[in-house]
This record gives sequence, structure tokens and C-alpha cells, in this order.
Amino acid sequence: MIFQYNYIFNIFDLNVFIIVFLLLFWIGFFLSFFIIKSDARSQLVRVKVHLYFISSISGILFIFFPLPEIFLTNFWLIYLLIRIITSFAVRYIRFNVLRVDKFGQMKTLERGKNLLDVKDLKVFYPLIGGMFRRQIGVIKAVNGISFEINSGQTLGLVGESGCGKTTVALSILGLVKKTDGNIRFQDRAIHRKYPSNLRQKIQIVYQDPDASLNPRLKVFEIIAEPLKNLLGITKKDELRKRVLGLMKEVALKREHMDRYPHEFSGGQKQRIVIARALATNPELIILDEPTSALDVSVQAQILNLLKRLQKNYGYGYLFITHNLAAVNHIADRIAVMYLGQIVEIGDTEQIFSKPTHPYTRALLASRSEVDMKNRDIKFIIRGEVPSPITPPTGCTFHPRCSSDVRTKECEFDLPHKIKIEEDHYIWCVNPPKQ
Ligand SMILES: Nc1ncnc2c1ncn2[C@@H]1O[C@H](COP(=O)(O)OP(=O)(O)O)[C@@H](O)[C@H]1O
Ligand code: SF4
Ligand SMILES: [Mg+2]
Repeated sequence: MIFQYNYIFNIFDLNVFIIVFLLLFWIGFFLSFFIIKSDARSQLVRVKVHLYFISSISGILFIFFPLPEIFLTNFWLIYLLIRIITSFAVRYIRFNVLRVDKFGQMKTLERGKNLLDVKDLKVFYPLIGGMFRRQIGVIKAVNGISFEINSGQTLGLVGESGCGKTTVALSILGLVKKTDGNIRFQDRAIHRKYPSNLRQKIQIVYQDPDASLNPRLKVFEIIAEPLKNLLGITKKDELRKRVLGLMKEVALKREHMDRYPHEFSGGQKQRIVIARALATNPELIILDEPTSALDVSVQAQILNLLKRLQKNYGYGYLFITHNLAAVNHIADRIAVMYLGQIVEIGDTEQIFSKPTHPYTRALLASRSEVDMKNRDIKFIIRGEVPSPITPPTGCTFHPRCSSDVRTKECEFDLPHKIKIEEDHYIWCVNPPKQ
């Protein structure tokens, strides 16, 4: 070994200029053969095998030079050195100039196709307590709700905190067990055993990007994860190309690829989460308060990004929020939830121009007071949200209802579906006054 070190020392000592010259010459010469011009940028080396070819050949050709004996006797050592350097150089350049304009992997969905059909969904959580930790009751988190979502459409699910919105999302994702009812995706029932093709087709974006991003992984690894696990893509080139395309979709820059989540702002982190959700070409995306943790100015950017993606690719969105301004901006239809039940459903225009259920009216009345500061709406509506463990009898909204159609029957009778206009319904004991 000592002998070899001496050799290297001598080589660099005596022939440093020749070596540097030769190295640069061969690298430059051979790389120039593989430069492929495209309209946007040049790409070095299209196929991976070329990479090996360049790094091998530049070393082999070294032998044809009239060199001092010292080089020839150390051929393999020098060859290896050149090969390693070339290989690293080519790889580095290749990854940094990969073209993304050829990225054509995003699927555009046919609009207006039924994606999700939820019928009479109930999710009750067991209430555990007592000395023996037995089940002593149930929490009726979702208590019989129905809705549909088509491709290219956004359904806004609005309601106060604790009304069961996240539970709806989790049951669609098969993450909580439904107590009753049906969930069908593209006309096929979703059972507890969740098939992996559904994991690919239904994605979720949570409120807090910090909780959904692994701080130890770089952006590339985060976005590539579903590509590897759900689509089975393993080639690093292909992965990088796809990740670059996805980052471009959510307006992240190429140089962000090799950074860690803590180096980004809240809005950028949510963009990373959205890029990861898009990676598997989903059809339905559940957005559970995706902008609630962000500054007001950034919220609008993320909403616009989501709208643009839907316009381009036809995704169906279930947009969960308590922010009425956000839902007005993005949703086509709105379902208003109260204590595990939908109390009003209709087109966004109908809900905002003709809110009819007393709860919806109270929510909208509170909007002007809370919008500017984006405070939580629960402080504005009179009274507290009752417990889902012992919900009020009859209409669960009756202790807080200040409508002039409220009667004694509201405390005992169950609300029924009342048609207000085409595609616009409320659930109430009494019809609204004309
Ligand atoms: N894993 C759980 N076990 C028991 N109760 C739960 C669980 N998750 C949620 N809940 C209860 O179910 C109700 C609905 O919760 P959630 O779906 O998170 O509402 P939202 O998303 O509208 O704030 C709440 O009363 C909550 O306390
Ligand atoms: S059923 Fe009665 S208490 Fe309930 S929302 Fe309608 S009017 Fe109000
Ligand atoms: Mg929630």
C-alpha cells in the first residue's frame, strides 16, 4: 500500500498538468457527443448505459497516449480514478439538467364522472371508561350522511370543529371502521380491507404539513415515496424526472429537490404535500383543512393552485373546512354539517345566496364578523356544540336554534329532508317561511 501511495504522490508531483489536461480533454470530448438539444435546455446523456460507456471509454483511451512509463505501469489505478471522476461528473450534470418538458405522466380525467358515492354513512367511536376500561357508550361522530362527488367537482364540507368532518375523510380512506352505510368509489364498494389501487386513486392532504412530512427526508425522497411504493417505479432517473414534473406542477423550483422540509415556509411545505398527493395520479383528493395552518396571503395561493390543478386534470375534491371564505372560493357544492349530520346541501351559489337552514344562516351571519381576523366560528354562534355522546333529542340543533320557524316539536321530532330548489335541500322539522 505504501508503495502505491508513493506512486500516486509521484504522479501528481511530476505530471499534474498532463493528468488534468487529459482528464478534462476526454471528459469534455466524450460528453460533447451526448449533448442532446431540446427546446428548453440541453440534456446530457439520455440513456443510463451511456453514462457507463463514457466513464469507461475515457479511461480506456488513456492507454493510447504516448505517456511516460509511470502511467502505463499504473494503468488500472489511473483508469479507475478517471472512471470514478467521470462517472460522478456525468451523473451530477445529468441530474441537474434533466428535462422536465417531456413529463407526460399526469392523467387528465374525464369530467362529470361519478367518483364517490356515500350513502347513509355512520361512524360511531366506542366510549371506553370505568374501572375495567369497558365500553360505556358511543360517540356518534358521523350519524347518517349522504353525498356524491364527480370528477372535476369540489364538494365543500363545512362545519364547526368536532362535527365529524375528519371522521368522514378517514372512513373514505378506510382508516376508521364505518358502523353502517355504504361508500362506493367508481361504483365499487369500499370495504374495510382497502385495496392498494384505491390508495393510489384516493389521496389526502392534511391541515398541518409539518405533521405529514418526515423531517429526515429530502423533498425528492418525500415525493418519490408513493412513486416507489404505489407505482413500483424504482429507476432513479425515472423517479427524478417524475418528481421534477410534480414539483413544477406545484410551482416549486428544481433546486428545492435536495432540501429538507424545515428549509421551507408553511405554504411551500403544503405544496410539497400536494405534489406527493399528485404523484400517484389520484382521482379523488381529500383536503382536510389544507389552508387552516397558513397565513391568509398564502391561503389564497394554495387555493388557486388547487383550482388550477383541478382545471387541468379534472380531480374530484372533498374540501373540508370551517372557513367559509375558502369554501366559497373553491367549492362547486357545499354540504353543511352539524353534529355528525348534514343539515343543508346545495350549489355554492345557492348556499350563499339563499341559505335556508337556521344553522347555515347562523354560520353565514358569523362570517362577516370573523372573516377579517379568521377567528374560529364556534365563538360566534350562541351556545356550545353539544356532546356527540349524548346528542340532544329531536333536532340536535334545537338548543341553539333561534329561527322563527322553531317549534316545540323540534325537541322531539327528527328532521326530514326538505327540497328548497333543484339540488338544494335542508334537513329540518319545519319548512322554512316563504
Ligand atoms: N379516535 C377517536 N376516538 C374517539 N372519539 C373520536 C376519535 N376521533 C374523533 N373523535 C370524536 O368524534 C367527533 C368528531 O371528530 P372529528 O371527525 O375529528 O371532527 P372535525 O374534523 O369536524 O373537527 C369529536 O367529538 C371527536 O372528539
Ligand atoms: S328542526 Fe327546529 S330546531 Fe332544528 S333547525 Fe329546524 S327549526 Fe331549528
Ligand atoms: Mg378535523
